[in-house]
Amino acid sequence: MANLKFFSGENIPLEMHKVRMVQKINLLPVEKRMQCMAEAGYNTFLLKNYDIFLDMLTDSGVNAMSENQYAAMLQADDSYAGSQTFYRLEDVLKDIFAMKYFLPAHQGRACEHIISQALVKPKSAALMNYHFTTTKAHITRLGGVIEELVSAEALKIQSTAPFKGDIDIDKLNESIKRNGKDNISFVRIEAGTNLIGGQPVSMKNLRDVSRICRKEGITLVYDASLLTDNLYFIKIRDSEFKNTDLKAITREIASLVDIVYFSSRKLGAARGGGILTSNDDLYFKMREMVPLFEGFLTYGGMSVREMEAMAVGLQESLDMDVISQTPIFVEALCNELLAKGIQVVTPPGGLGCHIDAKQFCPHVPQTQYPSAALASAFFIAGGIRGMERGTLSEQRNDDGSERLADMELVRLAFPKRVFTLSQVKYTADRIAWLYKNRELIGGLEFVEEPKVMRFFLGRLKPVGNWPDKLVQQFRKDFGESL
Ligand code: F0G
Repeated sequence: MANLKFFSGENIPLEMHKVRMVQKINLLPVEKRMQCMAEAGYNTFLLKNYDIFLDMLTDSGVNAMSENQYAAMLQADDSYAGSQTFYRLEDVLKDIFAMKYFLPAHQGRACEHIISQALVKPKSAALMNYHFTTTKAHITRLGGVIEELVSAEALKIQSTAPFKGDIDIDKLNESIKRNGKDNISFVRIEAGTNLIGGQPVSMKNLRDVSRICRKEGITLVYDASLLTDNLYFIKIRDSEFKNTDLKAITREIASLVDIVYFSSRKLGAARGGGILTSNDDLYFKMREMVPLFEGFLTYGGMSVREMEAMAVGLQESLDMDVISQTPIFVEALCNELLAKGIQVVTPPGGLGCHIDAKQFCPHVPQTQYPSAALASAFFIAGGIRGMERGTLSEQRNDDGSERLADMELVRLAFPKRVFTLSQVKYTADRIAWLYKNRELIGGLEFVEEPKVMRFFLGRLKPVGNWPDKLVQQFRKDFGESL
């Protein structure tokens, strides 16, 4: 609970759960960590889980599940068509979002595939607060283009703006005028805007965007994958909703948009996804693609066990004690790092702590992927796996030149209810050591560069032998310690 007061006056994030099942993790010696990083081509996606101490790559599909979710998995009704499990899940979703139809899909990007296939025409523009990697790939694959409409403030690392995920209304109006409404495939709002640091969207902004889209007859799509973080910030940063329950806020959001989709690898702490709408035309357009790409309409590529876990997880997500855990731990790590002079995206968002690689390694040019280099250095320094969210996550321009990212970030994600406060403190400590020795960190260059979403499978090597120097310094400062 975020607002619990301590007698000591200290502000300590407190876990509102107890741990009843655990997994042992390994901390390898620093030399071995360097070797693992080299074998993974300096790409944290290619590390093996066994070699990782704290896996902060993502909160996708790795959230702690509750006892009730596990229990529900045991009563799953296995059937190709018409399983009870599906109807239970459908009931829960229709209740939470108050929408007419639900289409199942195996994960978030599968929903994006279906929505894009239904709505994107070549050269049409998809307007959005900010892109997510898979969203952009699905739209551009079909010949569409994306336009990002967050305000300039949203791309500043240091800010006090409470809702950096908001669409700039002037930019939206200008874009609709310039493109013409018939050349716009849809407007998309992403809750808890991932790539700018897990930043929320305000209800006021959603209301404004909705009004414009309705007036112009443009479809409004809402990516609810990071809905719970967004709900948390609406509750604590917007006084209008202080006493509104989470389901009522969710229903208002859903009432303002035409399509809601989500990855339940995030929302609902399970694995899977789905699309909701109340619009008959959109429903029938998208429905025909579910059996083609995902599976029959009553499972959509998901196992019934995951659907049961999702149904329970979604209901549990309407509890502030459950959803506040991630943002308050993110804030705790951000504050520890800021106190040590390390710049992170502010205000702290949901999802994870986002460290500014440009401030950390100003000597590494963007063309040598400073965020990827820093993510490799985190692993070498502490067995901590983060995710590059910078130039490496961009796709090259058509002429082959690098598309330099707006921000160079390393994301340390907080899977829901997985890590403890001492692990947060360890992370801050190792990063502080690295910061003191930051001039040792060098750049990276590609050895193998895939054309599409290169950050997933690309392999790189260090420019110079900086990882060796880092290990030598580690031994000097930490002696025999891991
Ligand atoms: N939308 C958002 C906002 C996401 O964060 C993700 C996934 C997706 C869509 C795609 O969903 O993975 O189920 O296909 N984000 C993960 C991450 C991968 O690590 O941030 P998916």
